[in-house]
Amino acid sequence: MDNLLTINNLRTSFFTHVGEVKAVRGVSLHLGKGEALGIVGESGSGKSITMMSLMRLLEENGKILEGQVLFEGKDLTKLGEKEMQKIRGNDIGMIFQDPMTSLNPVYTIGAQLIEPLIKHKNMSKKDAFNTAVKMLQLVGIPGAEKRMKQYPHEFSGGMRQRAMIAMAIVCNPKLIIADEPTTALDVTIQAQILELMKDLKDKLNTSIILITHDLGVVADMCARINVMYGGMVVESGSTRDIFYNPKHPYTWGLLKSVPNPKNISKERLKPIDGQPPDLLKPPAGCPFTDRCEYAMKICKSNLPPMFDINDEHKAACWLNHSLALSLDTKVEEVVFNE
Ligand SMILES: Nc1ncnc2c1ncn2[C@@H]1O[C@H](COP(=O)(O)OP(=O)(O)OP(=O)(O)O)[C@@H](O)[C@H]1O
Ligand SMILES: [Mg+2]
Repeated sequence: MDNLLTINNLRTSFFTHVGEVKAVRGVSLHLGKGEALGIVGESGSGKSITMMSLMRLLEENGKILEGQVLFEGKDLTKLGEKEMQKIRGNDIGMIFQDPMTSLNPVYTIGAQLIEPLIKHKNMSKKDAFNTAVKMLQLVGIPGAEKRMKQYPHEFSGGMRQRAMIAMAIVCNPKLIIADEPTTALDVTIQAQILELMKDLKDKLNTSIILITHDLGVVADMCARINVMYGGMVVESGSTRDIFYNPKHPYTWGLLKSVPNPKNISKERLKPIDGQPPDLLKPPAGCPFTDRCEYAMKICKSNLPPMFDINDEHKAACWLNHSLALSLDTKVEEVVFNE
């Protein structure tokens, strides 16, 4: 499968009055054409900031310090704002956690949907208008034609969310990044939106990055999953491998709430005991050490590399080192902590 997106060793920090917040600490990931990748991980693990870095939409105190973001072979970290604007909306559509991030309060919803169609797709005003109305209908906004003339503040929260989704997909992007796209929506609309994204993937070969806390949604939509923790990808693999053969204790923790893998669709990620690492002073070793039942001496001092489990399954945990005890041994019976 051809890669549409490859991120290599991305590092992003925020410079604040209390110091440097190392939000993204060497993230690498890849996404094929027409592929759907799920990103899971607890709050603060760097999921959104990785995507905001990719889109070059960081707040002013945020900076990409290192790494490449190759989109169709072009490094987005090197592009000027003008070129980035062309890519945003046209090639990459993003659905944010907070709809107001992408809706402009001073323009009507209609104007905001029509503009990119005229600008990027060379549509006539009339065609753009009709396409925009169709989009609003598609995302379940009743009275779409009337709604075109309204401003974002005249929309309810759920309606704004849907308008934002319409905006993200109106130009038929090659990649849709959906960051917790459905949390604010009721279940029926959620299902419709996910169905819509699946449709785009199947019919137009649109690639999707889906950030969610909902394991059922990931299992249903994504062929591969990246698990993030402490600003890093700690495990990546096929959805099957992540659910049925996870190789990182953090992933075990995420999944332990699933008593029976057959019930995945009804489960959401549950919190794990303990605190995430302090990103102002991230630990030298594995960021999960302090919360890990199986931590060994080396975990505290040395950051584990991504160990290959199979061709597409990798995990950043020392337990996968050939010298560590085999995971087939009952880990509970072995005292790792000294
Ligand atoms: N403007 C900022 N200044 C300083 N730190 C920031 C800023 N924006 C984000 N961060 C920090 O970056 C880290 C990563 O945040 P991010 O929003 O990517 O988390 P997330 O994985 O998306 O979490 P959630 O599931 O809650 O959305 C967090 O520790 C957050 O506090
Ligand atoms: Mg987020």
